[in-house]
Amino acid sequence: MDWGMKNRMSRIINPKTGRAVMLAFDHGYFLGPTHRLEEPRKTIEPLLPYADTIMLTRGVLRTSVDPESATNVVLRVSGGSSIVGADLSDEGITTSFKEAIKLNVAGVGMSVFVGSKHESQTLLNLAELVNQGEDYGIPVLGITAVGKELEKRDARYLSLCCRICAELGTHIVKTYYCDEFEKVTTSCPAPIVIAGGPKLETEMDVLEMTYNAIQQGAVGVDMGRNIWQNDHPVAVIRAIRSIVHENNNPKQAHDVFLTIKDDAESTKAANA
Ligand code: R5P
Repeated sequence: MDWGMKNRMSRIINPKTGRAVMLAFDHGYFLGPTHRLEEPRKTIEPLLPYADTIMLTRGVLRTSVDPESATNVVLRVSGGSSIVGADLSDEGITTSFKEAIKLNVAGVGMSVFVGSKHESQTLLNLAELVNQGEDYGIPVLGITAVGKELEKRDARYLSLCCRICAELGTHIVKTYYCDEFEKVTTSCPAPIVIAGGPKLETEMDVLEMTYNAIQQGAVGVDMGRNIWQNDHPVAVIRAIRSIVHENNNPKQAHDVFLTIKDDAESTKAANA
């Protein structure tokens, strides 16, 4: 691996722990103003110190993230469809490598829709992105998207998708956690991070999912809604971080969550 590629990979996956906390807020690229992400800057700014990387589009990066922040960026470079359009899988590449380099990214990411009408288009786009990523020393994150068909998230389907991404040369794969997740990680030679999916009922559910994913071979998370749709997003991301980078178990991480939440509430009450 060339120096630039290695350097960028180490900005995404911390070489000290071999793990990654990525904060995803690219949802607007097809969902528009998602709940609690209506004003991206307000939602995201308090979370930046606790994310190794942020995952977002160039538009939100330029308008809503301070360029002087120390945050590393994984840029979403696919799009072209919307939640109200005919077919979410009909995506193309939206952002050039020239642009990604100008934005000083640590990596770029795009979705593939395996088994969909546009399977081939998205997989060939991914392969081309990897070709260019190799030219410029920029890692590519392949995202195994399921569109509206959330029920597709089982080990058989996700193993297929992740393995295809890895075979095409993707440097990191983002997928969903599922039952028998170990089958997904063991059959994918590239490192895997998990998305969180729609908001779960309790914080403990999020922490258990994170812990189980790590135990079963994920290198970390690239999570969005389960962090920033929570009433205490800083407490959640710090609790997740304690699992990913400090090997906390869910109970220990939940204690981290409660301590930070209670401190924040006391400070708020004292300043009221
Ligand atoms: C889809 O919008 C993106 O790939 C998200 O970045 C991904 O789904 C992670 O976000 P969440 O944890 O909210 O599922």
